[in-house]
Amino acid sequence: MTRKLKITCVGADLVRPVPLLALGVSRKRASAGPGSALAKLDSRFGGRIGAVMGRDFRGGAKDELLLYSSRTGEDGDPGPERVLLLGTGEPENGASSGMDSACARMDSMRGVAARALRRADRLGLPAFALGWVEDAADDHGSESQAAAEGAVLASWSFRELRSDREDGEDRGTVASLELAGGDEKAARIGGVLGEAANFARTLQARPGNLATPSALARSAEKMAAAVGLGCVVFDEKRMAAEGMEAILAVSKGSAEEARLIVLEHLGGEPDDAPLALVGKGLSFDAGGISLKPPLRMEEMKYDMSGGAAVIAAMKAIAELDLPVNVLGVVPSSENLPSGTAVKPGDVIGTRAGKSVEVVNTDAEGRLVLADALDWVSDRNPRAIVDCATLTGAAVVALGRHASAVLGTDDELAAQVVAAGERSGERCWRLPLWPAYRDQLRSECADLANVGGRAAGTITAAAFLREFVDDTPWTHIDIAGTAYGKALKPYQSKGPHGLPTRLLVEWALARTR
Ligand code: BES
Ligand code: MN
Ligand code: ZN
Repeated sequence: MTRKLKITCVGADLVRPVPLLALGVSRKRASAGPGSALAKLDSRFGGRIGAVMGRDFRGGAKDELLLYSSRTGEDGDPGPERVLLLGTGEPENGASSGMDSACARMDSMRGVAARALRRADRLGLPAFALGWVEDAADDHGSESQAAAEGAVLASWSFRELRSDREDGEDRGTVASLELAGGDEKAARIGGVLGEAANFARTLQARPGNLATPSALARSAEKMAAAVGLGCVVFDEKRMAAEGMEAILAVSKGSAEEARLIVLEHLGGEPDDAPLALVGKGLSFDAGGISLKPPLRMEEMKYDMSGGAAVIAAMKAIAELDLPVNVLGVVPSSENLPSGTAVKPGDVIGTRAGKSVEVVNTDAEGRLVLADALDWVSDRNPRAIVDCATLTGAAVVALGRHASAVLGTDDELAAQVVAAGERSGERCWRLPLWPAYRDQLRSECADLANVGGRAAGTITAAAFLREFVDDTPWTHIDIAGTAYGKALKPYQSKGPHGLPTRLLVEWALARTR
């Protein structure tokens, strides 16, 4: 029930009849003065925009200045009632962050749009506009996409479990956004991506008691019917027939039945091999018999973040009608301790036929993914990308600023990293050398499900690798990035809906 922003592209003239016009201004731009792009607007504001530039407003990354217009234009067309200057800091930010400057500009624009939307909401306005202040007549394609993403992401809130949901203060008043000089097609893509990420956030935010595996499957089915995706849901009986003993072993300790959600987009030739997306969908991970400590265990409702991103990415792929076939697969279950739960030391089977000693029942994600990866490998995809809140070790290695990427195919790993740069969902690759496989040796089975304390993110990926054939495959560990505090203006505390936009950017790049 989040609002849907209406985004339109209009001419580049900044003198527009809107309640608020927001402009992202760098330090460099601020110190150089308003420039020719702002001249006409500035004269409507009695020269006050030029007067504050480089003085009260220096364009620092946190600087904001709101100016009110005192009159409308002599020639009858009223200009903006307010101008909001939003500092974007040093252009060098991009270079020193190691990010390509076009990608850095996109992420900066996401932030500008998000800050503008929040301010317009606080002012109680129904609409605002965004413009560009460079003098050069640039093509604002990617930045229009980014602006739409940022505004839509900032408009998200999760109110469905509150009794005051109709008129709560965090609902927001802004219903529409104009991009002055924006690119129509790119803005539409950005809107679709932002809404898909918001859908992932809503799925993430729902608590474990309500968003059970079967409820997640129903959400996927409902979405699929609305956008025209194929959707098949395997229940436990079907999984047993498929030999998915690893998923069933994880699910055994829970009263909730597991589900395997399969979504299919047919945008390519009927017999083109598909791209495959796989996402971990643990609706709650208590650790099982290897029970987690209570501190922040409630956050383990987010252990379906990878699955949410895959479901949401499939939604966007269908809405954009990408000319490619894509399969989305989400193994979903709960991981709870009980008298029927799998125990440390138990040896289980897998769909692939390999036996696994479950040394630690809290390493359940790799078990459910093993069967899903094996099943999707049999569909002969061109490439597989999986994403999962898989290891606490990923948080230790990279903190909250990057997801870990691992895989055996250099080209695919590079594609995924590049898609994350473009979407602002950064990834950093870790090695996956064969030597790490040795840590998974078991006394009594083909594999142990844990590899000791050292290199936990890598040994988890080494486990997954055992269940993928020669298909190019890349794994994204999002344990540190999928949720948490807001690190960027377009995020909020809680679920981040990531890597939804990355997955769609990757699929988009594979259509070119
Ligand atoms: N879902 C967790 C990983 C996780 C931890 C996600 C923290 C987000 C924040 C996963 O199922 C898990 O418990 N992994 C274990 C693996 C270990 C037992 C080898 C971990 O990381 O501690
Ligand atoms: Mn676990
Ligand atoms: Zn887990």
